Amino acid sequence: MTRTINFNAGPAALPLPALERARAELLDFAGSGMSVMEHSHRGKEYEAVHAEAIGLMRELYAIPAEYDVLFMQGGASQQFAMVPMNLVPAGKSADYVVTGAWGQKAVAEAKLATAMLGASVRVACDVGAGEGKAKKYVRVPTAGEIKADPAAAYLHMTSNETIDGVEFHAFPDAGAVPLVCDMSSDFMWRAVDVSRFSLIYAGAQKNLGPSGVVVVIAKKSLVAAGRKDIPTIFQYRTAAENNSLYNTPPTFAIYLMRNVLAWAKELGGMPAMEKRNLEKASTLYEAIDGSGGFFRCPVDFASRSVMNVVFRLSSEALEEKFAAEAKKAHMVGIKGHRSVGGIRISLYNAVGIEWVKTLTHFMKDFAKANG
Ligand SMILES: Cc1ncc(COP(=O)(O)O)c(C=O)c1O
Repeated sequence: MTRTINFNAGPAALPLPALERARAELLDFAGSGMSVMEHSHRGKEYEAVHAEAIGLMRELYAIPAEYDVLFMQGGASQQFAMVPMNLVPAGKSADYVVTGAWGQKAVAEAKLATAMLGASVRVACDVGAGEGKAKKYVRVPTAGEIKADPAAAYLHMTSNETIDGVEFHAFPDAGAVPLVCDMSSDFMWRAVDVSRFSLIYAGAQKNLGPSGVVVVIAKKSLVAAGRKDIPTIFQYRTAAENNSLYNTPPTFAIYLMRNVLAWAKELGGMPAMEKRNLEKASTLYEAIDGSGGFFRCPVDFASRSVMNVVFRLSSEALEEKFAAEAKKAHMVGIKGHRSVGGIRISLYNAVGIEWVKTLTHFMKDFAKANG
């Protein structure tokens, strides 16, 4: 079997060794005569997997002891509501920095959540050009553009906008205000100083594993101070006090995440991931920039994403042809999000440099044949 070259934006390519390990262990996990999916989440076999996944994440991402690592469900979308429900006290407001489509969604959801709870939300910065849904996002803000409220409950940002291909390469300074970050599409692509953030959340289905689990890394003090007048299942303290085992967790998704984290460790952890990802992104951006305008990246140079590379061709018809011919060459997942069009290549951790080289050779040939 040949593996398809998979540039999907999420769910996305998984490392082959992590899948092979799952295959080898599928029917008989740890000599138990059953699969990990069939074990109780309170049994010692599953609990070992759960603890190993948390331990590997803490080790690889250098997560300080004063942070909880939580596994939750409902995707990053549920976090759009849970963050404000937990963290904005009645009568207070939270600040949002909007650099793309996911940030817009986070604000919309936070408005609904806070309206229910006598709190509010404010946009501290929106770098979109145009109006409403048609807004175009091509950059992150400069420090001076963020009009932060020093009394805000937190400042929310999206480190990488998956649809727009816009990424922060340095994080804003929120001062004494807790910084909250949706890192769904660039979590663990390299080391970050976790202590810069009060809360990080990330859906697993890009860099970490299959869909079904979302990771929350939160300062224990923030979790403890969270609101108590919201349903138990939505309080971060419930997950924290129960080691993310309050209700039945997505055991197989967490098991596969364990396999992916073990693979990342084997390869050399975050420094190796960073090296690998920078090489892939520079190879692809060089192919775009060196195409004499045949391919064009709309994102400002300094805000270009290492994980989701977006580019355009001269017409939508040519983009369709490009995607169709790429598919014939066993490359999938390259169409831009339906809301923005164009081409999007996702270069998450599991994507190898060989795949990117195959793509850039294909791009050169395509430009020659269609230029
Ligand atoms: C940056 C970002 N935030 C949030 C989401 C929503 O994630 P989910 O579908 O897991 O709710 C996505 C999904 O692609 C994303 O890329």
